[in-house]
Amino acid sequence: MKKVLLLVAAAFILMAASMLESCQEVHVKESDQTDQRVEDLLSKMTLEEKVGQTVQLTSRWEMTGPPPAGNNMQHQLDEIKAGRVGSMLNVTGANATRAAQELVMENSRLKIPMIFGYDVIHGYQTMFPVPLGIAASWEPELAELSSSVAAREATAAGINWTFAPMVDVSHDARWGRVMEGAGEDPFLAAQMGAAYVHGFQGENLADKESMAACAKHYAAYGFANGGRDYNSVDIGTNTLFNNVLPPFKACSDAGAATFMNSFNTLNGVPATGSSFLLRDILKGKWGFEGFVVSDWASISEMIDHGYAADHRDAAEKAIKAGSDMDMEGNCYAPYLAELVKSGAVSEDVLDDAVRRILKVKFELGLFDDPYKYCDSLREKNELLSQENLEAARKVARRSFVLLKNENQILPLSKNDSKIALIGALASDKDSPLGSWRAKAIKNSAVSVLEGMQAAMGESNTLRFAKGPEYVTNDPNFHSELEFNNSDYSGMDEAVALAKKSNVVVMVLGENCFQTAEGRSQADIGLKGLQMDLFRAVHQVNKNIVVVLMNGRPVAIPELDEKAMAILEVWHPGSMAGHAIADVLFGDYNPAGKLTMSFPRSTGQCPLHYDHLSTGRSGNKYNTVFWSHYTDEANEPLYPFGYGLSYTDFEYSMLQLDSSEMKPEASIRIKVEVKNTGDRDGEEVVQLYIRDVHASIAQPVKKLKAFRKVLLKAGENKTIEFEITSKELSFYNSDYESILEAGKFVVYVGGNSRDCLWAEFEVK
Ligand code: NOJ
Repeated sequence: MKKVLLLVAAAFILMAASMLESCQEVHVKESDQTDQRVEDLLSKMTLEEKVGQTVQLTSRWEMTGPPPAGNNMQHQLDEIKAGRVGSMLNVTGANATRAAQELVMENSRLKIPMIFGYDVIHGYQTMFPVPLGIAASWEPELAELSSSVAAREATAAGINWTFAPMVDVSHDARWGRVMEGAGEDPFLAAQMGAAYVHGFQGENLADKESMAACAKHYAAYGFANGGRDYNSVDIGTNTLFNNVLPPFKACSDAGAATFMNSFNTLNGVPATGSSFLLRDILKGKWGFEGFVVSDWASISEMIDHGYAADHRDAAEKAIKAGSDMDMEGNCYAPYLAELVKSGAVSEDVLDDAVRRILKVKFELGLFDDPYKYCDSLREKNELLSQENLEAARKVARRSFVLLKNENQILPLSKNDSKIALIGALASDKDSPLGSWRAKAIKNSAVSVLEGMQAAMGESNTLRFAKGPEYVTNDPNFHSELEFNNSDYSGMDEAVALAKKSNVVVMVLGENCFQTAEGRSQADIGLKGLQMDLFRAVHQVNKNIVVVLMNGRPVAIPELDEKAMAILEVWHPGSMAGHAIADVLFGDYNPAGKLTMSFPRSTGQCPLHYDHLSTGRSGNKYNTVFWSHYTDEANEPLYPFGYGLSYTDFEYSMLQLDSSEMKPEASIRIKVEVKNTGDRDGEEVVQLYIRDVHASIAQPVKKLKAFRKVLLKAGENKTIEFEITSKELSFYNSDYESILEAGKFVVYVGGNSRDCLWAEFEVK
């Protein structure tokens, strides 16, 4: 019998191997064919046509950056018809993209289709939670699910290239763009980044539901000094190699078709003009074969940085450094041909850029059918479909983080006839959609009020008071917000309602346009009259459940002290209210964990769990001479990895299979996790490593593995991890990954602060 099984197994393996081989062969053939087609086309192109492929222009009716110089529509049309525009951004919809594509296909000599880019960040029309929220699920599968839905919708509406994922690690909650990323940890950001790439690009870029992904912003944009957007960055190689680059490398390894560079300088050199970043690392060491697009005008902004003399100089520096496409910089279109003719830029450099761009266009299948994404029927059926909305609800509730739950005040009972709902964000149908909302329809989210009402059904007795207005203008992606700091109308009504209620659900936080690009804040406390409202309500009713709706970590020590419960819901997308009600009423047990530390006060920013130890890390001698603030604790309010559940988990029996490890071997780690409560629940078991001393000082802890597990009430599970040299290595200053012998500590727990630990040695 055994023999038979072995034979069957062997036959199966042979079959699988030959299938794999033939798949690989097909793939190699396909890519050879693409290369051949690229070369054939390139050989026919004039210098001007080549330059045209490196030019990207925005549509004039929707802009995601400052207005372009020479805002001349006719000129733009002429350039497109002449084949001198390789790509457009911000043209959306099956009909509009078709019309734009027709201009090229019907007028230009070589009929090279344009590629249409758009910021599809957390949904196209069906909105998912902002990426910081999705990361809090600790489920890369959800990043993949949300991006595949986004891709289905966007590709039905003519878009074949998204400017996502953003994989900028950041330690600074003042930086408004933290909502677009996965938070402060490079390992988690790498997992999420790769999952987004798979979701957007699918199995095959040529599928009509796949779009090209774009890992951005390469590199170090998340380390802007003072958390102020677009500011300079000054980090050393240790941070660059170990914190900034890993998620980008993961995206490149996952096959991201494109990269976008960043606005910032890094040690005085704009990323857009950095051949170290682009040629040595990305296209050199990592072997990236796609193309690099500049960020909006980041080529011409090299003049403002004081790095280029003028537009011509900027074009020369950017193309030589490896920026292949100029997004609205107006540098390549006017100067690149002349730079090549004069010999300042070799034609080979230009050819390399054009080759990369054409390759992605071929891979998308645009040459086979330039209109394959312009399908208005598919657009009609796909956008906001029931299936997509259900996916959005699922992802949203899995992204929530329970920060506090005193006396198990949550979950609430649907039969409680005295629940009050208070706060302007509670009835807001727009903010839940988040910023970078692509084609979300204004005011289309299910509000918290609607969600709770629907969940309570027939017997709904929910009472609502808005309280004072929060924002006084009607903000959009471009405008500054105006907060209400003086008009207390609505306050009395809210307090009166709170007074006669059993429990008060207060929705507090941020308007969606408080985060994203250009939205840095010097103070990350709650704005407007929100804290006044909270204090007034608290005077009359202590049973407050705060639903915190925001796009960045906020400093809320007073809420932590006084509210009974706090549920962090981020900007959760189209199905916000339903997903929130699912959790408030206990239909779903929350299991999210923070991926950015929540500071106690803004002055603690930047703040991250994986910091170095410093020479004076504790108050050993009871003096002031140690690394601390005199007016604030060092520790965050809620640490990285933190999040509660409606049940409790207990960790015990951390065991290593050996106290020593050879560099080429591995070590197995086991821990017991028990659900000690009376509800089923999920827990994210996190594993951190500390390399105790090394030739480059290492962080006090570094996330190296995690597993999200479902435990039935009372259930005990043994969770196992395996650690190899990969997890124990770090990048040295020559960007080599090295493992040094010596002592390591392994920590396992439900957050980065409260862990069991054990030691072992690498010999
Ligand atoms: C500037 C932003 O930095 C980038 O993330 C975005 O993709 C482009 N504008 C295009 O909108």
